[in-house]
Amino acid sequence: MSKLAVGIDIGGTGIKGALVDVVKGELVSDRVKVATPEGGDPDAVLAAVAELVEGFGKKAEGVPLGVCFPAIVRHGRTMSAANVSKRWIGLEAESLFEQTLGRDIHFVNDADAAGVAEVRFGAAGGSDGLVIMTTLGTGIGSAFIYDGELLPNTELGHLELDGADAETRASYAAKEREDLDWATWAARLQRFYAHVEFLFSPELFIVGGGVSKNHAQFLPLLDLATPIVPAVLRNNAGILGAAWLASGGSRD
Ligand code: BGC
Repeated sequence: MSKLAVGIDIGGTGIKGALVDVVKGELVSDRVKVATPEGGDPDAVLAAVAELVEGFGKKAEGVPLGVCFPAIVRHGRTMSAANVSKRWIGLEAESLFEQTLGRDIHFVNDADAAGVAEVRFGAAGGSDGLVIMTTLGTGIGSAFIYDGELLPNTELGHLELDGADAETRASYAAKEREDLDWATWAARLQRFYAHVEFLFSPELFIVGGGVSKNHAQFLPLLDLATPIVPAVLRNNAGILGAAWLASGGSRD
């Protein structure tokens, strides 16, 4: 397993990347960020990622490169587009990135990348059994990691609750959009996490996304039998996970 890799995390508003030490699980360059092109159109996103990777110069040459993206990823194809341009649906995204960048990449869902990073380097603290990572952002992302192995594309944000996709009611974007106070938002999160707990009986929930830095405002309001902890890698989880998976990351 190589020690260095590049991780790129594509989101609805920003594209972030860094060079990563995948043994220590640390960034070894500055984190570079560019705005996601308006509309999130594939050609524009590909060009922005190419520019970002070029910016790392020689240091990034010949090292594994992982890219994570907010969609279902099956055999390198993007199969959904909840918060990005619908033009991504059905695209051979991994091949398009490889052609544009002129190198192999590892392509994975954004929450899956964040989840493996938290389990490997962050908040899971060696928990075995089922760990469920959730990211509360524009949407709700989810990752299931069972005994260290990722079960990809779980998409809990699209679980239907009270007649709507869970993420349209309980994401951080929903809180902002509807100007919900912490208690009102927490009541929606309670509905979501209690249902997921009932369905899957995990050992641990990890809560990521930028809002997890304010965890003291809402996690104590949740009443669950399962421990629920904030992510510790914050905005770097996607970058670290994508880089680690690209480097051939596995349990041991
Ligand atoms: C998408 C997921 C993604 C999540 C977080 C959801 O809307 O369907 O694929 O992981 O947002 O970005």
